Amino acid sequence: MKRNKPGVKNILVIHGPNLHLLGKREPGVYGRVTLASINAHLRKLAAKKKVRLCIIQSNIEGKIVDVIGKARGKFDGILINPAAYTHTSVAIRDALAAINLPAIEVHLSNTHSREEFRHISLVSPVVRGTIMGFGPNSYYLGFEAVIDLIN
Ligand code: DQA
Repeated sequence: MKRNKPGVKNILVIHGPNLHLLGKREPGVYGRVTLASINAHLRKLAAKKKVRLCIIQSNIEGKIVDVIGKARGKFDGILINPAAYTHTSVAIRDALAAINLPAIEVHLSNTHSREEFRHISLVSPVVRGTIMGFGPNSYYLGFEAVIDLIN
């Protein structure tokens, strides 16, 4: 990512494992919108709000932990869909707690209406709020929430 411009806010967007498969992956649950199209829409929203976005997708827990660990001082807020790591990753939860930046957790699906193992989020207690169940709109609403928190 390029050096920060003074006065311009920076938001880190993190997509967790398997989200690169959106569009093809279980369309009955996640719909047919691709990750590229979600990212394009987020970039449009960011341009309107005059904020900079850095977007990453990773299937690797340690990589997500590393990115979060380096976010302090570079970013003003975080929008994260930890995907399956939501339900398993103490490491991602601890990384978010350690950097203490305003973060919003999003999910395309309503995880509470799905299998029981998805009812627990290890991440929810350390983020400022969670938005779920609205498909790609969860990201767009989450983005607005991050903007609200950092302004
Ligand atoms: C998800 C929900 C998770 O339970 C699942 O493992 C995902 C996607 C969602 O956006 O609905 O990969 O985070």
